[in-house]
Amino acid sequence: MKTAVIGIGNIAQVHIPALLGAKQDIVALCDVDSARCEKAIERFGLQARVYTDYAEMLEKEELDAVHVCTPHYLHAEMICACLDKNVNVLTEKPLAISQTQLDTIEAAVKKSTAQLGVCHQRRYEEAMKYLKEKFSSDPVIAAYGNMCWYRGKDYYDSDAWRGTWTQEGGGVMINQALHTLDLLQWISGMPTSVVAHTHNDTLQDVIEVEDTATGNFTLANGGKMILNATNGCTSSFPVGLMLDSKSSRALVVGDHVIVDDVVLKKDDELPLFGKEEWGVGHQKLITDYYRCLANGEKFPIDFYEGEKVIRLILAMYQSNGKQIEI
Ligand SMILES: NC(=O)c1ccc[n+]([C@@H]2O[C@H](COP(=O)([O-])OP(=O)(O)OC[C@H]3O[C@@H](n4cnc5c(N)ncnc54)[C@H](O)[C@@H]3O)[C@@H](O)[C@H]2O)c1
Repeated sequence: MKTAVIGIGNIAQVHIPALLGAKQDIVALCDVDSARCEKAIERFGLQARVYTDYAEMLEKEELDAVHVCTPHYLHAEMICACLDKNVNVLTEKPLAISQTQLDTIEAAVKKSTAQLGVCHQRRYEEAMKYLKEKFSSDPVIAAYGNMCWYRGKDYYDSDAWRGTWTQEGGGVMINQALHTLDLLQWISGMPTSVVAHTHNDTLQDVIEVEDTATGNFTLANGGKMILNATNGCTSSFPVGLMLDSKSSRALVVGDHVIVDDVVLKKDDELPLFGKEEWGVGHQKLITDYYRCLANGEKFPIDFYEGEKVIRLILAMYQSNGKQIEI
């Protein structure tokens, strides 16, 4: 298929080889900084045209699919521009940063013949697929997720959009801990309410958004789903999940899973330490997205799957210690 990528920063360096690995044709790259496109063309040996204006690219190119790898506040308008032209679009997370953006995207999805996919690549890890399957017939009655990372001044100073309400749309929750919360809700089910606290513990002079958050969610079956997340540590530890059903207990760190005292090592070979949060899921997710498009199948992480974690995060931001119904 003829594909293009918008936003040639960090994560595009993962999308481009994954697209090539999925045997797709990258015909165009777009970034407001054209040098980033040229650099990627050289790095990956591409034959792609370069654009600095995504609307012009959508006008001039006959594209089958576009990858949106830009800062958060731009996702909604770029997704809608693709859908309006019936061009399939795979967006990086977060799907959106406000309820208004979610509503606009939903309207565009309903009118379009194209498929929107959302990059929640951790759902493609073997450990997560195993847990999803295991607890689908044995419902979770208590869940706990812990993300404890370091993101310092250098990280936030590296790009102007980071650490701002208008462009990042939040801090640790909408960016880093989104994956952990998405996995918790995917495996445990969508909660019905939350009491949350978000605060800036370590970066008051650097960012206007939260570096730390806690969420106490109530599940539909009355169970609890607790999330602790921070960017305010001095190291980044592997993300941990703990899950209880009536008959079983699971602990997962990276792709290391312990179920009822039995240590299961799933086969993704994720390093426990390092950029494990990006995981190996991008290649699997992107390959599956194009398999679905080629076969006329529905891609599983569509608008309605992508919006769940956004609704949870927006409720956390709204909560400030009060119970919010979801
Ligand atoms: N799924 C994951 O695990 C994962 C990991 C990292 C980043 N991400 C997501 O990927 C997205 C990008 O993050 P990043 O770290 O690559 O950011 P980045 O700042 O490195 O890259 C963004 C790129 O978009 C370009 N850009 C900005 N405005 C543009 C416009 N109007 N038109 C075209 N290009 C434009 C910038 O010049 C930059 O090159 C974010 O949504 C982020 O949350 C996801």
